[in-house]
Amino acid sequence: MGYKEIYARYRQQIQDGLLKPGARVPSIRSLASELQVARKTVETAYEILTGEGYFVSLGAKGTYINPELRLTSTVSADNAVSSRSPHTLVTERKGDLRLGIPALDEFPHKKWLLISGKAARSLRPEEMLMPPVMGFQPLREAISSYLNISRGLNCRPQQIFVTSGYRANLRLILSVLAQPDDKVLFEDPGYFYGQQLLKRMASNLHYIPVDRQGMDFDYLQRYHNDARFAIVTPTHQSPLAVSLSLPRKHQLLAWAQQNSSWIIEDDYDGEFHYTRKVIPALKSLDMHDRVIYTGTFSKTIMPAMRIGYMVMPQETVARFSELGEILETGLPLLPQKILAQFLSEGHFYRHIKKMRLLYQQRRRMMLEAIETSFPGLFEFELTDGGMHIVAFQRRGIEDTALAALWTQHELYVRPLSSWYAQTQKRYGLVIGYTNIRSTEEAKKILERVKGKTLELMQH
Ligand SMILES: Cc1ncc(COP(=O)(O)O)c(C=O)c1O
Repeated sequence: MGYKEIYARYRQQIQDGLLKPGARVPSIRSLASELQVARKTVETAYEILTGEGYFVSLGAKGTYINPELRLTSTVSADNAVSSRSPHTLVTERKGDLRLGIPALDEFPHKKWLLISGKAARSLRPEEMLMPPVMGFQPLREAISSYLNISRGLNCRPQQIFVTSGYRANLRLILSVLAQPDDKVLFEDPGYFYGQQLLKRMASNLHYIPVDRQGMDFDYLQRYHNDARFAIVTPTHQSPLAVSLSLPRKHQLLAWAQQNSSWIIEDDYDGEFHYTRKVIPALKSLDMHDRVIYTGTFSKTIMPAMRIGYMVMPQETVARFSELGEILETGLPLLPQKILAQFLSEGHFYRHIKKMRLLYQQRRRMMLEAIETSFPGLFEFELTDGGMHIVAFQRRGIEDTALAALWTQHELYVRPLSSWYAQTQKRYGLVIGYTNIRSTEEAKKILERVKGKTLELMQH
C-alpha cells in the first residue's frame, strides 16, 4: 500500500462524514505498524492531508482531523452540530414536542461528566470482562434502594434485572414465563410500541378498554378472567395519563393471586406526579408477589442511555437467572457504573425533585400556548402527572393527517388514534411538553402549524 491510498482513504472517510472534525487519528508509528508499511509512507500521506487542511498536528498531543473543517457536501446536519467543538456538549434542542423526553436543557451535564470520567478511570480489569447478565451489582443495589424508598416497594437487589428498557423487559418476561398460547392482556388505548411488539410475540393477545379509572377491571373479569398476563400502566395510563383507581388495583391484585396470573406493571414515568403526593406503585400493594414491576431511566436520565430494569418476583428469580444466561449478555458496564454512582451519590433524587417542579410549570406553559393558538379546537382531561398531554380534538379531521402536518414542521407529536386497537377510537394529539421553556417559545413553535391546523380543523 502506498501513501496515495492512505491519503485517499482518509479523505473519503472525512468527506463521507465518518471521520469527524476534532477526532484524533492514530500516530504515524501505530498506523504504519497496523498497515505493515514503512513509517515514511504514512508520514507522506499525513503531510499531504495536513497541507490540504484535513489534519492538524498538535505536536506531542497527536494529530487530529481539523476541528475547523467545514464540509459543504456530504456531511449531515447532525455531524455539523457535533463538530462545533469536540469538547462542547450540545444540550440545546429547542421546543421538541416528542413524547417522553426529559428536559435536556436541565440535565446536570457537568455532574454527569465528572462521574463519567471517574467511572471510566476506575474500571478494574475484572470489570472489563463479560458484564454480569442481571446487571452491575452496585447498580442493582442502588435501584432497589431507590424503588423501596421512592416507589414504596419492598424488594432486594437480587430481584433486580437490569435491561435495555421496556421492550427488552417484555421480551424477557414472555420468553422466561409464558407458554406459547398464554393469554396476554394489554390496555386499549395502549403504548404504541408495546402493542406492536406484543402483536408479534403473543399469539393470544387481547385488549382491555380504559376509562377514567384506568383499565376496566369488570371487562377483564367478564371476558378474560383466564388470562395469564395483564400489562398495565397503573400510575399514569399510557397515553391517557389517568391513574388506576385504588379499588381496581386491589381487584386486579386479587385476580392475579386467585388465578396465578402475572401483572406486568409498566411504571415508566411514575416519578412525575404533580398536584397530589406521588402515587405509590401498584407493586407496593402486592402482598402475594404477583406483580413484575418494570421501570426505565429513559424518562429520568435520557432515552439514549438504554437502561431499564425489572423487579422479578422471588419465586421467578432462579428461572430468570437460568434463562437469562442463555438469552442475554448483560449491558455495557461503563454506563451502568456511571448510573450507579449518580444514584448512590444522591444526584438522581435531586434531579427528579427539580424536574417535578419544572415539568409542572412547563405543562402549564404548553397548555396556555395551545389554548391561545387554537382557541376552542382542543380539549383536555387533565390528570395529575405524566410527561405528556393529550389534546383531544373537538371536531375536524382524522388526527393522523393533523399529526403528519405537525411532523412536517418538525413538531413530532403522535396521533392518539394510532394507540387504539379495538375500542372506539378518540382523536387528538399526544404532545410532549418537557422541553418547552416558556409560553412564548411554545407559541412561536405552534406558529409554524397554526394557519394550516386551523384550516384543516375548521372544515
Ligand atoms: C408507556 C411507556 N412505557 C415504557 C416506556 C419506556 O421505554 P424504554 O424503557 O424502552 O425507553 C415508554 C417510553 O416512551 C412509554 O411511553
